[in-house]
Amino acid sequence: MENQEDTVWADEELFPTYKRWDVTFAKAEDTTITDTNGKTYQDFMAGIGVVNLGHSHPYVVQAVEKQLHEGWHASNFFHYNQQQEAAHLLTSHSCGDLVFFANSGAEANEAAIKLARKHTGRKKIISFVQSFHGRTFGSMAATGQTAVQEGFGPMPEGFVRLPFNDVSELEKAIDEDTAAVLIEMVQGEGGVRPADQAFVTAVEEKVKKSGGLLVCDEIQTGIGRTGTLFAHEQYEIEPDIITSAKGLGNGFPVGAMIGKQFLKESFGPGSHGTTFGGNPLAMAAVKATLQTLFEEKWIKAAAAKGERFLNELDQELRSLPVVKDVRGMGMMAGVELTESSAPVIKELRDKGMLVIGAGPNVIRMLPPLTMKEETLLEGVQDIKEALSSIQS
Ligand SMILES: Cc1ncc(COP(=O)(O)O)c(C=O)c1O
Repeated sequence: MENQEDTVWADEELFPTYKRWDVTFAKAEDTTITDTNGKTYQDFMAGIGVVNLGHSHPYVVQAVEKQLHEGWHASNFFHYNQQQEAAHLLTSHSCGDLVFFANSGAEANEAAIKLARKHTGRKKIISFVQSFHGRTFGSMAATGQTAVQEGFGPMPEGFVRLPFNDVSELEKAIDEDTAAVLIEMVQGEGGVRPADQAFVTAVEEKVKKSGGLLVCDEIQTGIGRTGTLFAHEQYEIEPDIITSAKGLGNGFPVGAMIGKQFLKESFGPGSHGTTFGGNPLAMAAVKATLQTLFEEKWIKAAAAKGERFLNELDQELRSLPVVKDVRGMGMMAGVELTESSAPVIKELRDKGMLVIGAGPNVIRMLPPLTMKEETLLEGVQDIKEALSSIQS
């Protein structure tokens, strides 16, 4: 227990922005995290949907290590071949043509919001209740959770948040001042809520007809998480802009905005930028992550394993009195309870299984795509055991 005292001491000089657990990270490999007491955890949350290839993936480590010895940063005055190569991996596997590299998900969304306004000359950004898009001013204003905005007002103008999966409200709101609709295919932070096919089809049709842009926030759902590189592929739509981050560098901080060719002139020299965006270390991580995902066919594996995992969760848990719903897409799963999920999440963590919440009563799982099927199925049994003791 002496190490826990160290943790408290260490945090005294940090802003307390995070609700931290009583666990101090020591190291991580593949799907296992070890704390400073030597206790090991099976990681069913992948650093909040980030280490899709597992922790310390050897190819990604090797690629970043090689780049470490060849220069970290020169600035975006230089052409970086690494940026072009990483961009090509994204554009050749998506409907996008051009990439802007940022350092996080919020920054990728910020770029998308700015580009949509600049290109259309319009103000209105439509997003949805319970969505999460980040904590910078634009991405925070788009986020459909009042708790995220509390105390930080005034929000920038022009942001409208509509009920999710509600076509009639959407029809009323889209007009000739709509710059973009920003949508998650599965609301992650908002409770693992997949969008309805009919709703997504309507969003695409209506926003494009109005002359606005369709922006898919694939920060949590992308990079193979749902069984395709990006989740919108499964809805058969073609966004004008896709935003990515989280799994993109398998844990190396990086974000990307991927857009259509027709948007090129609106993001000309001097219009937008960032000192660190697209630096060679981040690009080495992106290239190694994407190449590994594609060459080792992890996305296809995620689709198959995800289906099995979700079916098993459904079969084993749905009939329990405390379980209200089981839902998800690929390796993104949510179990909604009739009561707070926090005590269950803690109980599982104490037993060595890491899951997270999404809203007050959902247990969210975002395991590395590399997690073995037997480990996934053992996890289902652990959750079943924890939930079976609750009478509701
Ligand atoms: C859908 C979605 N968009 C945006 C973000 C913000 O990303 P970041 O925390 O990297 O700024 C997140 C983070 O959870 C997210 O899930």
